[in-house]
Amino acid sequence: MIIRTHEDVTSSVLSELERSKDARFKEIMSSAVRHLHAWVREVRLTEAEYQKAAAIIAKLGQLSDKSHNEVVLIGGSLGVSSLVCLVNNGDRGKRETTANLLGPFWRAGSPRTENGASIVRSPTPGAPMFVTAYVKDLAGKPVADAEVDVWHTSGEGIYENQDPQQADMNLRGKFTTDAEGKISFRSLKPIGYPIPINGPVGDLLREQGRHNLRPAHIHFLIFKPGYKTQFSQVYSSDDPNVETDVQFGVWRSLIGDYVRHEKGPAPAADVRGPWYSLEHHFVIEPGEAKLPTPPITGKAGPDAKPESVVLERRK
Ligand SMILES: [Fe+2]
Repeated sequence: MIIRTHEDVTSSVLSELERSKDARFKEIMSSAVRHLHAWVREVRLTEAEYQKAAAIIAKLGQLSDKSHNEVVLIGGSLGVSSLVCLVNNGDRGKRETTANLLGPFWRAGSPRTENGASIVRSPTPGAPMFVTAYVKDLAGKPVADAEVDVWHTSGEGIYENQDPQQADMNLRGKFTTDAEGKISFRSLKPIGYPIPINGPVGDLLREQGRHNLRPAHIHFLIFKPGYKTQFSQVYSSDDPNVETDVQFGVWRSLIGDYVRHEKGPAPAADVRGPWYSLEHHFVIEPGEAKLPTPPITGKAGPDAKPESVVLERRK
């Protein structure tokens, strides 16, 4: 088509997409083109702004490698990953769900651990924490024999794979639900952590006066044939950033009640000082049991401990 007006550009691109034989590709790309062109018209994007946008997108790719994915990070910082999760779970967004984001730190091959055992595998700072979690189906019946991976940061806000001082697979474990659909383990209370801000994500947050913190959480991955594999995170109710998560990942069903116990007998005799307990319930849906591709495959080298740079949230 010879282009006469700006409207012709849109219809020309859309008509070329009609040539595709893949119906889903055609649906997704035609809609993307319609929205993208409408956005250019709505904001009347200038040539200079278009060049800037192209440079930002190129930078997202340039900053991504095997241990960091800036594209996923900006998707989260713009709420896209949360949206994708919520329209695909909870009966396609009709009701509350305990599904959440996988995040960039799941590793395959977590050590199998008995219920009740500890996942602290090397000396680690943090307050003792005792976790019980239940897995149920949509009818509220316990799901037995589900495999549940758990992982979280240390009391310094760092995952073991980022931290040469922590043992391999520290604060990670794989549990199996019992007849009540229950797993339990001992660990240390995690704390929140900053996401990296040395690229476009940092620029985006600084422009808005946002902080770059995720509230403290424990990750769960629940696998059982016959059910859709569920990724989840249980956030700490006492974290000051629970309402301003930089990745927009906190929904009500995932706010965990981390109960602080000042005194009284702890579940283990060696506990000195305050400790925490957490009980949480997950609901999994029928569907395909499929493990994701691990976003990371190993531990960082001796100099790789991340610099912890925190942005203040503008008042
Ligand atoms: Fe995390």
